[in-house]
Amino acid sequence: MEFDQLELVKLGLEDLPEVEQILLQHFLTNSPVPKAARMENDKRLIPLLKKTVTTALRDNLSLGYRDKTSKQLVAFCQNSVQLLNNHAYYRETPNELLLAPSKLAQNFLKDIHKELGNGTYLYVSRITVLPQYARSGLATKLTVESERVAIEMKCNYVIMISMNAFMHKVAEKLGYRLLRETRLLDFCDESSGLSLFPVEVPPHTHAKLFCKQL
Ligand SMILES: CC(C)(COP(=O)(O)OP(=O)(O)OC[C@H]1O[C@@H](n2cnc3c(N)ncnc32)[C@H](O)[C@@H]1OP(=O)(O)O)[C@@H](O)C(=O)NCCC(=O)NCCS
Repeated sequence: MEFDQLELVKLGLEDLPEVEQILLQHFLTNSPVPKAARMENDKRLIPLLKKTVTTALRDNLSLGYRDKTSKQLVAFCQNSVQLLNNHAYYRETPNELLLAPSKLAQNFLKDIHKELGNGTYLYVSRITVLPQYARSGLATKLTVESERVAIEMKCNYVIMISMNAFMHKVAEKLGYRLLRETRLLDFCDESSGLSLFPVEVPPHTHAKLFCKQL
């Protein structure tokens, strides 16, 4: 795969249909997370994904790579600016309405301001690369380009939460600091005490929150 053939693009609401397509086909289906959380058949999964991605695209901070000739979107990265002491979605949504991965994100993010202070961060999520473009460094490049977006937006940090071992490698390679970590099997629901990820699906065994100070 030649990088010359690809162009970096900022994505907005007009790109929603393509972004939904890449996420539904290559993020949800390729990710063992819904299986680990036994939520593959949860009817809330797709509407929630569509709602949150629509909100993010409105900000015009999300990035992608397009093939210069075919214009096909081949990689995506969802970005939003958040307050360290108040991540809008996770603060505003009651815990019982969140799906397992969001409950985990809510738990990881709730006290980060105690360590990181009261500024802002760029929240980088749902990095997805089409299988035929995998392992060419696109996820790494999208993370690096997101750092530029974070600097433009005068954010204090970039923050990423991932259950994908490949993304953990990317974060480590780029010098991110590990702030939170849990084995998925050990992460329990606050009220029931039961594991929210009862099935272990390697290599997605751990969730990690990484941050980089800018
Ligand atoms: C995770 C994902 C985004 C990685 O994209 P990518 O463009 O292939 O990643 P990169 O090429 O930047 O690879 C980064 C590192 O991940 C690791 N890695 C990626 N794919 C790998 C594979 N198939 N086998 C082993 N290691 C792999 C490598 O360590 C690699 O670095 P290296 O090539 O220098 O050794 C892609 O696999 C994907 O879209 N998966 C499905 C959606 C998903 O789960 N996204 C994560 C959301 S948090």
